[in-house]
Amino acid sequence: MNRVYNFSPGPAMLPTEVLQQIQEELLDYQNTGMSIMEMSHRGGTFEKLHNDSMTLLRKVANIPDRFDILYMTGGASTQFALVPLNLTGNRFNQKTGKAGYINTGTWSTKAIEEAKKQNVDYVIVASSEDKNFSYIPKHYTIPEGLSYLHITSNNTIFGTQYFEFPKPKDTKLIIDMSSDFISRPIDWTHIGLVYAGLQKNAGPSGMTVVIIDKEYYQREYEHLPTMFRYSTFAKNNSLYNTPPTFQIYVFYLVLQWLEKKGGVETIDQINREKAKYIYDAIDQSGGFYIGHSVKEDRSLMNVTFRLKDPSLEDEFVNQAKKLKLYNLKGHRSVGGMRASIYNAMPVEGCKLLAEFMLDFCKKYS
Ligand SMILES: Cc1ncc(COP(=O)(O)O)c(C=O)c1O
Repeated sequence: MNRVYNFSPGPAMLPTEVLQQIQEELLDYQNTGMSIMEMSHRGGTFEKLHNDSMTLLRKVANIPDRFDILYMTGGASTQFALVPLNLTGNRFNQKTGKAGYINTGTWSTKAIEEAKKQNVDYVIVASSEDKNFSYIPKHYTIPEGLSYLHITSNNTIFGTQYFEFPKPKDTKLIIDMSSDFISRPIDWTHIGLVYAGLQKNAGPSGMTVVIIDKEYYQREYEHLPTMFRYSTFAKNNSLYNTPPTFQIYVFYLVLQWLEKKGGVETIDQINREKAKYIYDAIDQSGGFYIGHSVKEDRSLMNVTFRLKDPSLEDEFVNQAKKLKLYNLKGHRSVGGMRASIYNAMPVEGCKLLAEFMLDFCKKYS
């Protein structure tokens, strides 16, 4: 077997144990004589797995009863449009308050653009665009009467993360959690809806988990197509149409893996330890490596940094590869390097990267 430490931002590493279990069960899932992919989503075997996965997610992520769990498709990018479409009306089909957005990077910007396209009244409550999204805005006033306040909890491209969510008084948060979903404990008090694609912390691409306050269904506009309504998924246990069955299966295996590891509290501790190795290497390099994020907002999921001498970057990537450290090149809007270290990245991978960084620094500085 020739597995590498894959620092890809997503689709990303999956736990080896999960991949092995998939391999074992692929041809004959639990003595049914067929693969889970070949099975009806209306049959008892699949439906049990589907329901068990939702029950386990609720347990692992500590999701209160006021929320429904929905399994959707179309990625987080579809949610950028579905959120304003479903949550800015009322049951008389009238617009309610403005939608609020905090802009912390490329993905928040895309969410705002979709609200704009839907002709929704919106306001940008705060932004960190002035410093190329290198921090999370802290000092701002949330206007009264918003339909919701949208934030991106972890900024995959820029490498910043919220360690404390805003606490709006008369509205709730909509959180794009695509890149830090089930990576740490969450306080649900101020949350109205969370969405996340599986492909970073939770499984393969192709499925989006939506966790939605049950009160929200009365806000959807009447003209919405059936498949664009959250209520369709809620009323039909996410089985109105054929769901992404294989993704649900892998998600369930990942949740079981996470529970066995000790749940989100334990994984949070491990993620902190992993990130610390790499941030320490940046801080100990005497300016050879320059982190993109301000220290207090440094993401535990995506470590972004550049080399003081950009002409060494290709050499850095090539030498890292020889040690099986793959996919370290950063996004073009930030440049430099990005190490994505989601739940399934082992501690050893981060330790090895940090050692390599310090060796490389010694050699070339
Ligand atoms: C924070 C965040 N939001 C949204 C997206 C877009 O997700 P998708 O490709 O599932 O639509 C990504 C993808 O990387 C992301 O990191």
